[in-house]
Amino acid sequence: MKIATVVGARPNFVKLAPVSRQLRRGFDEIIVHTGQHYDYLMDKVFFDDLGIPAPDYHLGAGSGPHGRQTGEMLSRIEEILLKERPDLVLVFGDTNSTLAGALAASKLHIPLAHVEAGLRSFDRRMPEEINRILTDHCSDLLLCPTKTAVENLRREGLAEGVFLTGDVMVDAQRDCLRIAEQRSSALSDRGLEPGGYALATVHRAANTDDPARLKGIAGALEEIGDVVFPCHPRTEKYLRQLGIWDRLSRRVKIIEPVGYLDMLMLERHARLILTDSGGVQKEAYLLGVPCITLRDETEWVETVEDGWNVLAGADEGRIVELSRTFRPTGAKRDVFGRGDASLKTAQRIAELLEAPGRRP
Ligand code: UD1
Ligand code: UDP
Repeated sequence: MKIATVVGARPNFVKLAPVSRQLRRGFDEIIVHTGQHYDYLMDKVFFDDLGIPAPDYHLGAGSGPHGRQTGEMLSRIEEILLKERPDLVLVFGDTNSTLAGALAASKLHIPLAHVEAGLRSFDRRMPEEINRILTDHCSDLLLCPTKTAVENLRREGLAEGVFLTGDVMVDAQRDCLRIAEQRSSALSDRGLEPGGYALATVHRAANTDDPARLKGIAGALEEIGDVVFPCHPRTEKYLRQLGIWDRLSRRVKIIEPVGYLDMLMLERHARLILTDSGGVQKEAYLLGVPCITLRDETEWVETVEDGWNVLAGADEGRIVELSRTFRPTGAKRDVFGRGDASLKTAQRIAELLEAPGRRP
């Protein structure tokens, strides 16, 4: 049986790694890379760090407005699927690559599975929210990381094919922590001491494309001090356009995006994480590092409920205040599973493909 996995952006690669390893035990996997992310530090470093096999197809879609980018991917993925005729297409998360893979598969009547199904921010202005909803509603297999995700789908009338697997990012982190400790020199290279810095990441469109929000966040990072900031290219572009890059870089250690192993070490030893990333919120929780989320809502509500994450929005004063006062209180639970989500993912796919009378 042949499975086509479709990926294209940084968070897709991290989720693919443990799942690909499991799939290759029982299936032929072909990896289709849309080319949404393409800089070495946004792309290939993840294949190297996480030991992901090289893509079988690279579609070179690149950057662009949503419609053009997603459309380019869709037509190129369709060509590959027509040629390869996989038994199932597997997509991850909520990027434009995810949606393009989902649409291409469902229009060709190829069974579709979605890893990280059921996440909702309930903000339809967020591009990822549209990608999630549409992908979930054309998926045959909806593999949910949390009980909240299962419940979100139930409220939208989706129950068939829905399974709680846990979060494959737990598996990725577990597989890589020891390797990261051995191989990464992320702290020593930058003269950082464990517990001596805060780590920040910012890339959400709602923050980067809104000057007031981006200025609020940048002002807070300046004020907090001793911040390491691996900066997404999108964010760099807007910080430069607003003329705040130079001032910010005098107070904040702005660095290029880092690979997964370096990121794990920077996260693990940070005294505090400030982020608008979905994945980084979870990683902070799993590593037991307090997290301030630079958004007004989160899909990962369990991290907030358990007292390890707090929503600060983009208000400079609130972020600075929380950076001084926020102390996690609650006990952490196994809300994201125990590191067997990728195994369960492969098992559910096998069940679907082996079910009698399945859709041809
Ligand atoms: C995308 C995802 C987002 C995810 C993020 C992870 C969508 C709608 N958004 O956002 O959910 O959290 O990836 O990082 O799919 N760029 C480069 N080099 C690259 C990639 C991008 O310079 O290798 C720059 C380009 O100027 C590009 C901009 O970043 O226009 C945005 O890239 P894009 O892939 O469109 O969206 P992200 O903001 O990365
Ligand atoms: N990440 C990384 N280097 C960075 C920033 C993020 O390795 O410079 C990793 C991070 O640890 C997580 C994943 O990328 O595993 C999350 O991707 P991102 O924040 O880009 O997207 P999101 O999760 O918000 O969709």
